[in-house]
Amino acid sequence: MTIEAQSVRESQTTITELMIPSYANFGGKIHGGILLSLMDKVAYVCASKHAGTYCVTVSVENVEFLQPVEVGDLVSLHASVNYVGKTSLIIGIRVIAENVKQRLVKHTNSSYFTMVAKGEDDQPTLVPKLILENNEEVKRFIEAMNLKKIRNQIKAAMDDRVSFEQVASANTLLKDERCVIKF
Ligand SMILES: CC(C)(COP(=O)(O)OP(=O)(O)OC[C@H]1O[C@@H](n2cnc3c(N)ncnc32)[C@H](O)[C@@H]1OP(=O)(O)O)[C@@H](O)C(=O)NCCC(=O)NCCS
Repeated sequence: MTIEAQSVRESQTTITELMIPSYANFGGKIHGGILLSLMDKVAYVCASKHAGTYCVTVSVENVEFLQPVEVGDLVSLHASVNYVGKTSLIIGIRVIAENVKQRLVKHTNSSYFTMVAKGEDDQPTLVPKLILENNEEVKRFIEAMNLKKIRNQIKAAMDDRVSFEQVASANTLLKDERCVIKF
């Protein structure tokens, strides 16, 4: 069923998962890939609840693991639609790890997943407008618009290929870098 507009509240989603030993890396901490997979899952649930369709992940911004997550922690991922375009949605995800025995809660990261809604024909399809009900939601919407602008600038910079002249002057350009040119 297609609807005109929907509030942020209606698609807000939280997933909580216990960090079991098989999620750990050789250092005994939780693999970043496990957390990424959970983030993708909660982003999908939140986006598809807003869109009312199947959604795909198109890009991910600001993934930083600043604090390790331990085996035994309860990880909660809170997702909200921060912004909608025509067919895309930016989902803000806040990840919290909780040590229940020590009653310690740490914020491990906040990331942004851009999802695109797909129709029955597998093509991008229009999503409902986002109803913003308080200043915080307005703030997040504007921040997501800024994020889109920065993403486009980064993309343009990445597409700006290194010239043959820059490669030719690599000895000067890279003199303070930790590399050895050996040819
Ligand atoms: C995402 C996808 C549908 C975009 O297709 P497309 O032909 O470029 O479609 P459009 O140009 O119409 O763009 C659709 C929307 O995606 C957004 N978009 C496209 N590329 C993007 C990118 N690199 N980063 C962020 N948003 C992007 C566009 O801005 C547009 O948003 P809007 O409608 O809100 O303005 C297509 O690339 C796809 O299906 N990718 C595979 C996704 C997937 O399988 N993900 C799982 C990971 S394996």
